[in-house]
Amino acid sequence: EIRSKLLSITEAADSLDAIEAARVTALGKASEIAALMKTLGGMSAEERQVQAPLIQGLRAEVSDAIAARKAALEAAALEARLATETIDLTLPAGAAAQGSVHPVAQVMDELAEIFADLGFAVATGPEIEDDWHNFTALNIPETHPARAMHDTFYFPDEAARDGKKMLLRTHTSPVQIRTMMSEMPPIRIIAPGRTYRSDSDATHTPMFHQVEGLVIDKGITLGHLKWTLETFVKAFFERDDIVLRLRPSYFPFTEPSAEVDVGYTLVDGRRVIGGAEPDGWMEILGSGMVHPKVIAACGLDPDEWQGFAFGCGIDRLAMLKYGMDDLRAFFDGDLRWLKHYGFAA
Ligand code: PHE
Repeated sequence: EIRSKLLSITEAADSLDAIEAARVTALGKASEIAALMKTLGGMSAEERQVQAPLIQGLRAEVSDAIAARKAALEAAALEARLATETIDLTLPAGAAAQGSVHPVAQVMDELAEIFADLGFAVATGPEIEDDWHNFTALNIPETHPARAMHDTFYFPDEAARDGKKMLLRTHTSPVQIRTMMSEMPPIRIIAPGRTYRSDSDATHTPMFHQVEGLVIDKGITLGHLKWTLETFVKAFFERDDIVLRLRPSYFPFTEPSAEVDVGYTLVDGRRVIGGAEPDGWMEILGSGMVHPKVIAACGLDPDEWQGFAFGCGIDRLAMLKYGMDDLRAFFDGDLRWLKHYGFAA
């Protein structure tokens, strides 16, 4: 009766959920066995001596049957998993491809080291900027044509913060502003980082890297700028016979402004940076004396403080130093490319 009914429920359970349900039915508080246990209290001593072992025996038997069924179901589930998950643990592991420092990271580290020797600290700023830091404070007002020249990625108007339009910074120059606003001169910093412009070909990618340099102090001249750049370029390209050429140029945030070319010589038809008598020139950065309006926009007195700034493409530096010719390959993450240029093992 009860016994055979409960044992058949147990036997019929075909999953771990079903066996748990069967356990509750057979042995739970509302089960027939629990009800039988309760009747023991109302029995005479002699009757209880006969009935108690019978009821407890029944409970033990059903409980064992459930445990056995559960173990069998678990074993079957494991069996099924082992049959489908075929991992051959005897196979030798394949060699994992090894990554390496990326040329851009390598150049950033080198720049930080070279400029640390000249007393420059490393500063950073946000890649998501507002148009005040990226343009206005740098003497590029809303109507200035330089804004159009930057091919800026703007965020939708709804993303504006404090009435300022948000954008992906188009250069590292906003870090000049943030540094002058948060620190008192003398200031000597470089600011390497990612920059963005809507532009793409063999020498332009929508995301690229720049390093900004900024010095603010008393009595700073163009001579300090030229010496600093010469020292940096000689250390970076690891030769002393490098000639720089400063060409007059225009940036709204520097006055005067200069574009800086580095001399190269032709070796077997290839351009190699350096040589006392260059065969040609390659532009490597923009620079100038920080415009008094920019110094004033940051709350400093331009009669007291002067300085120079420069901005240089890091990817371009890496291309020149390591002889790489397609900028887009920098961001493909292709280990063969890294290996080709001696970066990966
Ligand atoms: N921000 C300029 C650019 O991206 C470079 C620059 C920096 C020029 C600092 C002068 C001074 O082209």
